[in-house]
Amino acid sequence: SQIQSIETKKVLKAKNMAFAFDIDGVLVHGDLLIPEGKRALEILNGDNELGIKIPHIFLTNGSGKPEQARCDQLSKILQNPVNTEQFIQSHTPMSALASYYNSVLVVGGVGYRCREVAEQYGFKDVIVPNDIVAWDSTIAPYREFTEYEKAMSRPRDFSKHNIEAILVFSDSRDYATDIQIIMDLLLSENGRLKTKAKDPESQRIPIYFSQGDLLCPTEHWTPRMSQGAFRVGLEAMYKAMTGVDLERVVYGKPELATYKYADEVMASWMEQIHGEEKLPENIYMIGDNPASDIIGGNMYGWNTCLVRTGVFQGGDNDENNPANFGVFPNVLEAVQTALRKEL
Ligand code: G3P
Ligand code: MG
Repeated sequence: SQIQSIETKKVLKAKNMAFAFDIDGVLVHGDLLIPEGKRALEILNGDNELGIKIPHIFLTNGSGKPEQARCDQLSKILQNPVNTEQFIQSHTPMSALASYYNSVLVVGGVGYRCREVAEQYGFKDVIVPNDIVAWDSTIAPYREFTEYEKAMSRPRDFSKHNIEAILVFSDSRDYATDIQIIMDLLLSENGRLKTKAKDPESQRIPIYFSQGDLLCPTEHWTPRMSQGAFRVGLEAMYKAMTGVDLERVVYGKPELATYKYADEVMASWMEQIHGEEKLPENIYMIGDNPASDIIGGNMYGWNTCLVRTGVFQGGDNDENNPANFGVFPNVLEAVQTALRKEL
């Protein structure tokens, strides 16, 4: 019975913990599995000494695909189930904006996929830069338009139509066209193209970015520039042209709005796994980027684990944003150490 009560205590402790995983640089590199990620998830999915599931959510600054499509893809790569109800990508919390804006310009991503994402979020009138180029190709003088792009775009007379907000969902595939169109809209009268605002601030439509990472680990040997770099460039151009700062809203890690959203997702996922909608006391964030995963987790009172399989390539710990639980060679070591500490 002593053994039984030790076991019961361990189960109670296990029910009071959860994990939040970053994806790129922790579990995968692009489409390639980081092998320790598969084992780490198997352990949390029940292959552990207690035989119970330990709740975990995925909190990524990744973007550009509908949630279901991305979860299907990740389930295959990780060889473990990834459910949309335990999954937050950078633009997921932006679905709340659908009740504020009708007509929006959605920027970034491959082809027309981000239009699809925005429509799934409930935005009623989703415009993408190609719709505008198809209406007036002189807006983007260096742009070459393919037949496919022409066929897929939805042109209309944008000089008779106000766009209410700009939502950058994912990485721009064509900085020149996207920055030009965003700038035209920011300088217009309330989002109407072919007009120029008399006052750049009071008549400017709002702009939102789904995440702020400057760098993103990819298959390339050194990280590539990400949406944060695009935003910084745009802000500098806007300031140079108008003399005023561009006000903007950024989502994603390490922004507070995203962590609040993660709390809600975590609580309802706890209910799915343990039958009670309650936040656990011990949450472990495992990330590779000190400037987003670790700083955000530290601010939010989570235990932070920094791994060496992604952006971070420094010494003992990051100097500016040290992980409070430690630095680990990979995600499996981090998960095992956290489990040893708690159970
Ligand atoms: O920076 C872009 C994105 O790919 C990062 O994803 O999973 O590391 O937050 P993640
Ligand atoms: Mg990462």
